[in-house]
Amino acid sequence: MKFLSFLSTFVLSLAQVALGELSNFDDWEHERIQLEDVSIHFRYHGQGPPLLLVHGFPQHSLTWHTIGPILAQNYTVIVPDIRGCGDSSLSLTKNYTAAAGGTDLKAILDYLNITETYVFAHDKGVGLASSLAIEHPQAVKRIILAEYPLPGFGYTTTVTSPNAYLNWQLAFFAVPDAAEYENPTWTANRALRFFEDGEHISSVDLSYLKDRVTLQGGII
Ligand SMILES: *[C@@H]1O[C@H](CO)[C@@H](O)[C@H](O)[C@H]1NC(C)=O
Ligand SMILES: *[C@@H]1O[C@H](CO)[C@@H](O)[C@H](O)[C@H]1NC(C)=O
Ligand SMILES: *[C@@H]1O[C@H](CO)[C@@H](O)[C@H](O)[C@H]1NC(C)=O
Repeated sequence: MKFLSFLSTFVLSLAQVALGELSNFDDWEHERIQLEDVSIHFRYHGQGPPLLLVHGFPQHSLTWHTIGPILAQNYTVIVPDIRGCGDSSLSLTKNYTAAAGGTDLKAILDYLNITETYVFAHDKGVGLASSLAIEHPQAVKRIILAEYPLPGFGYTTTVTSPNAYLNWQLAFFAVPDAAEYENPTWTANRALRFFEDGEHISSVDLSYLKDRVTLQGGII
């Protein structure tokens, strides 16, 4: 009986692979690791070489709920909530530097015993991923950086110019402590509204994100 049930599970798994059945993002494995000044939550799933996806702001790991299961067919996909976001906590020392976030990513890799990974990073996540690659080049096999001007290309001048205030979020988050002291629900709703133009995110994806924003620890 045991063998038969093993066999049927095996055949079922084969059929799922053959049919390209996707995993349900909500069923992915979760872990939480306690670091010196922050508690980091991440999800992971899949088979094959590791692929670390680092989300931007104002987002969290749910950002990968559609693409994640597709990639997990061929990769072990790891999706953290970066410090201050999703189910990760705020930093006790208020350290949200790229360097600090980079150490969180390294801690996740260490926890999973991963010595080398592919990395894709978006927006704020680019700073963290770049820091990981600079500090631990041996840990990064290939890296793709999207939608984030790295320092050294004039961005610092742009954000200190009055033009920056045309984007409310740049101005808001430039005010020290404002986001932490603000009501998190308000902050999250403001941030999500940013995407509600129906152009950058579908209504289905938006309601998925809204339903699952936990607001337990992070800003969003
Ligand atoms: C996964 O690998 C298969 C076989 O190499 C390939 O046909 C498919 O396009 C890959 N899918 C993704 C999402 O990379
Ligand atoms: C933030 O964390 C980084 C990485 O651990 C560290 O190098 C830096 O000194 C910290 N900054 C502050 C202000 O604590
Ligand atoms: C990592 O390796 C250690 C030591 O071999 C092992 O105890 C641990 O279970 C491994 N962790 C994972 C997530 O595989």
